[in-house]
Amino acid sequence: MSKRRVLSGIRATGRLHLGNYLGAVKGMVELEESDKYETLYMVADLHSLTTPYDKEKLQENVKNVVLDYLSAGINPEKSTIFIQSQVPEHTELFYLFSTVVSLARMMHLPTYKEKIAQHPKSSTVALLNYPVLMASDILIYKAGLVPVGIDQEPHLEIAREIARKMNATYGLDFLEPKRFATKGEYVPSLTGEGKMSKSVDGSFINLTDDLEAIKKKLSKVPTDSGAGDMLPKEGGVATLFTLIELFQGTNERIKYEEQYIGSGIKYSELKEKLSEAIYEDLKPIQEKRSELESDPEYVDKVIKEGAEKARKIASETLKEVKQKMGLG
Ligand code: TYM
Repeated sequence: MSKRRVLSGIRATGRLHLGNYLGAVKGMVELEESDKYETLYMVADLHSLTTPYDKEKLQENVKNVVLDYLSAGINPEKSTIFIQSQVPEHTELFYLFSTVVSLARMMHLPTYKEKIAQHPKSSTVALLNYPVLMASDILIYKAGLVPVGIDQEPHLEIAREIARKMNATYGLDFLEPKRFATKGEYVPSLTGEGKMSKSVDGSFINLTDDLEAIKKKLSKVPTDSGAGDMLPKEGGVATLFTLIELFQGTNERIKYEEQYIGSGIKYSELKEKLSEAIYEDLKPIQEKRSELESDPEYVDKVIKEGAEKARKIASETLKEVKQKMGLG
């Protein structure tokens, strides 16, 4: 029996942060390590064009995502690593998919509304179509499992709807892709409001941050007196508890929570320990990254081979869809 396929991607919009790492990359590494799956991981450069971007920096950002993938533990011997725009079949399938998606459905999507609110001047057709291209990224490999953060669930729902519609209308056999969730599927913002996000300054810690940078960022997380009758469910203190759970484990989180409703927390000590725990996880990734930075030819080879492997699968699916849709 052939292996179940896994597909995921990250936009090339800057350095990866802890949200990308815990919500997506950790799941990608976990699935790669199981021999039940064939894993394909891409850099979603086309999706990076859906909001304002710097043309001069795009190539550098694309390379940075590949470097982050490799340094975070994705192994090109096991996974196909590729750049979305180097597999043009994605955009062709995307167009075919757009014929079965209603405009109203796309306009009411919460992720679209959020992006429009963030970038009121960028309400383009590309942004509206973001989830349709994402569905094409996934379905072109007939992938059934997608390691992404919880924020991507509305997009996966669109992919499932497209799969059902294409199967019912044209007799195709797309799987309805499911999200592969990690423990860090929702990493909150350091500001205490919303999720950690590349587009919100002061909200994130990058994978490339050193101990001093991490300490500085954590020192700005808003806190309170350190004690109370009830544990805060949101705000900076809730963010700290979540990060403690993710980097220091459940027992440490419970210890601090007990202090909160008891004798009180000393945030300076808590932040110091948490900074060290985060850095301990990031240090090996940073060391691997500096090794890889000195070998750009290797990285280029990974990207080239990845595109070739991905195109082979993608072109077969595209051919099948075109035939079934009457395009010969
Ligand atoms: P992007 O670049 O916005 O996000 C990349 C991944 O990081 C996850 N993520 C988070 N997870 C937990 N907590 C957070 N605070 C947090 N912030 C970001 C996102 O859920 C995502 O998994 N649309 C995709 C890119 C894409 C894609 C695809 C993914 C394009 N085509 C096909 C999978 C399959 C995205 O959100 O990129």
